[in-house]
Amino acid sequence: MLEISNLVKRYGKDDAVLKGLNLSVTGSEVVSIVGASGAGKSTMLRCINRLVEPTSGSITLNGLELTQLRGAALRKARRKIGMVFQGFNLIDRLSVMENVLAGRLGYVSLFQAVSRRYPQEDIERAFYLMDRVGIAHYANKRADELSGGERQRVGVVRALMQNPEILLADEPTASLDPKTSEQIMVLLQGLASEMSLPVLINIHNVAQAKAYTDRIVGLRHGQMIFDGGPSDFNSDALDAIYGGIENPDDDGQDISVSGGVA
Ligand SMILES: Nc1ncnc2c1ncn2[C@@H]1O[C@H](COP(=O)(O)OP(=O)(O)O)[C@@H](O)[C@H]1O
Ligand SMILES: [Mg+2]
Repeated sequence: MLEISNLVKRYGKDDAVLKGLNLSVTGSEVVSIVGASGAGKSTMLRCINRLVEPTSGSITLNGLELTQLRGAALRKARRKIGMVFQGFNLIDRLSVMENVLAGRLGYVSLFQAVSRRYPQEDIERAFYLMDRVGIAHYANKRADELSGGERQRVGVVRALMQNPEILLADEPTASLDPKTSEQIMVLLQGLASEMSLPVLINIHNVAQAKAYTDRIVGLRHGQMIFDGGPSDFNSDALDAIYGGIENPDDDGQDISVSGGVA
């Protein structure tokens, strides 16, 4: 279970980018975080895995307070947090298998890693997961020989190799075509329930958020202004999150939402 309480993030002396967020996510819940560009979606995810230092507030994962961790304790906690990126973040010249095994880097020794002596159980788990997402036959291919959707599957498997307790995905489908995006969303949904893993997905495609996640959280200027099920996410909610561009007091950027697909 992830619990965020009163999370505030301020970059330098600027106004707070996250203004006291509260969120609790349990079990195998798949939650999408929607909001205009600059709303604070990425900052929120990065505070969870501490790529960004929270200014104040609390974030606990299965009871462990993440915001105060340092050094070895932080590295250990980061293993529990799988991350999937928009740009996949693969090492192109390495094979699919090597990219996947990189998910074990938080666990194996430096010697094991540089000499590529991963434990047999890691190799077996890698094949199991690659097979699950349909890329096992690419194990020895270079990562840059794969299509975008296949590359994102590698990214998902690498994250799962960490044996994470939560999966965070920052715009995981934004670089993919619509059909491939939907396949990745279905995959994340399926994996969440199979592995009892909560999944947080930053996504600007509202139609996909509604179709493929259990719960939608709407951010606007660093504040949570919607939290509910897909069926509660009506045009008023959409307008509250993305609307008001005509309002001169509003500094939201033009996000050109039409039919829920940005
Ligand atoms: N490293 C940073 N330093 C300063 N400001 C940042 C940094 N990262 C993000 N911001 C600012 O924080 C706000 C929220 O950004 P971000 O979390 O990336 O939003 P989103 O992912 O919703 O587009 C934006 O105004 C952005 O300019
Ligand atoms: Mg972002």
